[in-house]
Order: sequence, then C-alpha cells, then structure tokens
Amino acid sequence: MKEMTRRDFFGAAAVSGLGLGLASVLTGCNETKVKSFDMANLYPVYQDGAYLEKDFSHLIGKAGLGLSAENIENHLGLYSNYVKNVNKAEKEMAAGQVNDFTMKHLAFSLNGMALHDIYFSNMTTETTSRSTALENALAGTFGSFENYMKNLSELAMQVDGWSLTAFNLLNGKIFNYALKHHSDNFPNFVIPILALDVYEHAYVKQFTKEAKTEYIEVFKGIINWDLVSQRFDAVKNLT
Ligand SMILES: [Fe+2]
Repeated sequence: MKEMTRRDFFGAAAVSGLGLGLASVLTGCNETKVKSFDMANLYPVYQDGAYLEKDFSHLIGKAGLGLSAENIENHLGLYSNYVKNVNKAEKEMAAGQVNDFTMKHLAFSLNGMALHDIYFSNMTTETTSRSTALENALAGTFGSFENYMKNLSELAMQVDGWSLTAFNLLNGKIFNYALKHHSDNFPNFVIPILALDVYEHAYVKQFTKEAKTEYIEVFKGIINWDLVSQRFDAVKNLT
C-alpha cells in the first residue's frame, strides 16, 4: 500500500478529470498526510501520457456477482472505447486541434472512462463495510443510510446515464447527482465516490427495460463499501 500525501492525491485527481477545477482549488496546500491507500484502486490511472485501460475481465462470469458474463463483457467493450477516445482526443487537443471530436471526447469519453473505472472497480462479492466517517457524512445529508440509498435509487430510475454519490468541494457535503449521459449536466467541483451506471447498455443484455429496478437492486448488493469509504477519505479533507 502506498502512503499518499496531499500532493500525490492532487496530481492523481487533477489528471483523472474528476472534479473539474480541482487543481486550482488545491494550489498552495501543505503536504500533509491524508490516509494510506492505493489511489490506483480508487480512481483512473494516468501514466506515460495516457489514461490506463484497467483489466476488469475478472468480473466476466464471476460467481455471485449477479451480472451476466455477456452483460459485463459487452460493457467492458464500451469502457475500452472511452479510454481510447479520450486518449486520442487529448493528444489531438494538445496538438492544437479543436474540432468536434476533441471537444466531445475530452468531456464525454473522459467522464465515460472515469465513471466506468469507479463503477467496475467497485464491484465485489465480498463482505465490506462503511467507515464511520462515511456513515456520518451520509446521515448528515440524508438523515440515514436508508434514506441515502432510497435517494440514489430514485435518481437512478429517472435518468439514462448515471446516479452518482459525490463529494462537493464547495460545500463539503456528500450528495447524489443524476447525470444524463456521461457529461451532460456534470457539475464542476464535485468528485464521485460511487457510480451507478443506469444507461440501458448497463443492463439490457440481461434485464428488460421494465426490470431496471431489478438491475439496481443487484448493483446495490455488490458495492464495495471499503473502497467507497476510502474515496471519501481521499476527498473529504480537500475543502
Ligand atoms: Fe456504462
């Protein structure tokens, strides 16, 4: 496990594209130790001038996951394309090319890459638990964990995109955000700590559109709360 400093986190978060404007918010902070964890497990990895396509193939056909091999395999193919497109767009934009492709994919595919990274990395069949700090933050916003989950699910049922739990750097609160597609109405200054994909592509290989709620229930049963708690630890001291 890597001992992470604030400077480490700022660098990782800034290149991840999560929490737009984060770098400027963080400028001038002291190099104070936050927590010990591996950022590569929590957020996208940027190395050698490109975002890394992580290997989530262990999820394909995984017993007890509740999501079919066909569903996961198809979905990972989409994730792969987001990684390729954001890397291509970044190179072209760096070369001064402002066009429909670069402008679209530096938002759409960057968010698609990052949100799927959180979505897939957060799936587990093991027993995990929420930290006290996360429990308190959720209760502070929603009143209780049950209310929080109810809100996340309600938002998920109303969008074709994402239902996110994210930390708002401007007010220091955890909040759920309904997102249309990957980048439409994506607020600045918020950093996702949990991502529920409710695009139809996330479930129609296995569930009917009318059974969306069944897919959401499966997702809620495979959340890695250890990782969500670690993401919260990583971001909560940034305000
Ligand atoms: Fe997806």
